[in-house]
Amino acid sequence: MDLDLTEKVALITGAGSGIGAACAQQLSEMGARVVLADIAPIVAVPCLGSALTVDVTDGDQVRGMVDQVLEHFGALDIAVNCAGVGMPVKAATAETDFAEWRRLLSINLDGAFLCMRAELAAMSRGGSIVNIASVMGLVGTPGAGPYVSSKHGLIGLTKSAALEYAADGVRVNAVAPGFIDTPLLREPDDKARQSLSAAHPLGRLGTAEEVAAAAVFLASPAASFITGSVLPVDGGYLAR
Ligand SMILES: NC(=O)c1ccc[n+]([C@@H]2O[C@H](COP(=O)([O-])OP(=O)(O)OC[C@H]3O[C@@H](n4cnc5c(N)ncnc54)[C@H](O)[C@@H]3O)[C@@H](O)[C@H]2O)c1
Repeated sequence: MDLDLTEKVALITGAGSGIGAACAQQLSEMGARVVLADIAPIVAVPCLGSALTVDVTDGDQVRGMVDQVLEHFGALDIAVNCAGVGMPVKAATAETDFAEWRRLLSINLDGAFLCMRAELAAMSRGGSIVNIASVMGLVGTPGAGPYVSSKHGLIGLTKSAALEYAADGVRVNAVAPGFIDTPLLREPDDKARQSLSAAHPLGRLGTAEEVAAAAVFLASPAASFITGSVLPVDGGYLAR
């Protein structure tokens, strides 16, 4: 199986933590030169990489990020759009604050759109984009309308872009993680974590590394005939 990414240039947003950091590490291990981007300054950078501070909701900053990748490396081959936020306070739709709706949509969906727009324009020699969606992009979840909507939207955008850019040799896919043990999942008590674990037939939360492995596969030549797909990494969550 061809997972070799030698000479490939990979950009990862949300790379300062959790799933994005694991993607950057594994892409680097496969030989890619990685650029890590995050709204928070990044200190730990894999050996083949560099870091940028970027807010994905700001179109100018996003364009600047991709321009810097092109200036330094001359190309962009792989992009993993991972920057995102969760919903700390659950609320049914009638009780959902509009500012919270806008915050989730702005970071999780507008941000991914702005990144994809700049990345697709830069992938002049073909490439692969992997969007980190969620199982909540495929099914509803009570009390999480803004998050669920942002991830459904991201999956729709993934499929549309896959169709638009297939002829240019750019593949666009999404990963749909179940509940993953990262800082985003700030479940305070053991009981809440246990009930989330039990929602997965495998009986536990996933790890950032398990999600990254799927993202690296989709980005690699091993997935050369896969585009417009959504790959669940969910311990069986969606199989029920
Ligand atoms: N942890 C889970 O259970 C889970 C499940 C499904 C999907 N996801 C998705 O995976 C992605 C990564 O989540 P994670 O669990 O690694 O969380 P995390 O909080 O560990 O990492 C998210 C990163 O995104 C960055 N970020 C947030 N807003 C940003 C912005 N405006 N511009 C640039 N960077 C920004 C944060 O600084 C952080 O480093 C998110 O899109 C999330 O929705 C997570």
